[in-house]
Amino acid sequence: MNDTPVIIAENLSRHYEVGGGLFRKPQIVRALSEASFTLYPGKTLAVVGESGCGKSTLARLITLIEEPTSGQFQLAGKAATKENWPSLRTDVQIVFQDPYGSLNPRQKIGAILEEPLKINRPEMTAVERTEKARDMLRMVGLRPEHFDRYPHMFSGGQRQRIAVARALMLDPKVLVLDEPVSALDLSIQSQILNLLTELQQRMGLAYLFISHDLSVVKHMADDVIVMYLGRPVETGTKAEIFDEPRHPYSKALLSATPVADPGAIKHRIKLEGELPSPMNVPPGCAFAPRCWKAQKRCRAERPLLEGTSHLTACFYPESSAAPSAAAPQPKATSG
Ligand SMILES: Nc1ncnc2c1ncn2[C@@H]1O[C@H](COP(=O)(O)OP(=O)(O)OP(=O)(O)O)[C@@H](O)[C@H]1O
Ligand SMILES: [Mg+2]
Repeated sequence: MNDTPVIIAENLSRHYEVGGGLFRKPQIVRALSEASFTLYPGKTLAVVGESGCGKSTLARLITLIEEPTSGQFQLAGKAATKENWPSLRTDVQIVFQDPYGSLNPRQKIGAILEEPLKINRPEMTAVERTEKARDMLRMVGLRPEHFDRYPHMFSGGQRQRIAVARALMLDPKVLVLDEPVSALDLSIQSQILNLLTELQQRMGLAYLFISHDLSVVKHMADDVIVMYLGRPVETGTKAEIFDEPRHPYSKALLSATPVADPGAIKHRIKLEGELPSPMNVPPGCAFAPRCWKAQKRCRAERPLLEGTSHLTACFYPESSAAPSAAAPQPKATSG
């Protein structure tokens, strides 16, 4: 394994000002706050959490679409500052959930694949570009005759293969996958996930894999970041997060995931209350208003992400031992 990280992110935050007017102060949307992580070549870091928790915002920062409002990151050993964006652009590419929306319906697949080369590899001849596009088509499991077809002539799964092929045309080091299989049928999902795994092994790609589907994450991830309302609340290896979740939110999230073992008794933790708005983040621990373990301190003080390797932002985390008798238990329903 290559030990040099391809991304080192420190306290990445992205806040938006909305709704300001002549006599009104704008409100601040805290879409992402203080996300730190390290991503290695050939590895997959999954980002999980409910809708609106800041996953796509993180994706936009890492793919150099937007600048962080604070914090910084290094990409391929270089500071990802705006002046360095042009030289870093080809190192990171993104694949979105909706392959149809991200492919130009008027371009044939061959042209779609060659376009990034035309823009970024002026030294390549037309013949070389076509050859590379055809190779890539094969690599993602499509056939040579697909080269001259339009996006509407493909199924959803095939279109996602095209989106992956296009993202790989410039030999990036990092692929950001934002819900890459959420729009696909279950059987097609596993084909695309297997393709991604195969490509990762072959090319040593690093994946930032965004998903709200924990069974998909369990299949793909090496490491996991659990986000709540714009903040990482727990990070660790896949085994640490899935087998020993410490943050009550992670526990609740995992309890809602179907288990493979039919004999296993599963207690589904039902979270009470609405997810607050990132415009109005609760004081202290943002999860406290929905947390069955919350004490006075949780509402007054924000817990820091602490630990070694397995990090948790919680004053009363779950331990690997049986839950303490003193702590109130979640409302559990069998399911
Ligand atoms: N440009 C923007 N201006 C204002 N608010 C924004 C902007 N972009 C995102 N937000 C807000 O930031 C929060 C995080 O959004 P984001 O798209 O990152 O969530 P997400 O985790 O990707 O959600 P989903 O799972 O639904 O895709 C949301 O509340 C969103 O409304
Ligand atoms: Mg999103």
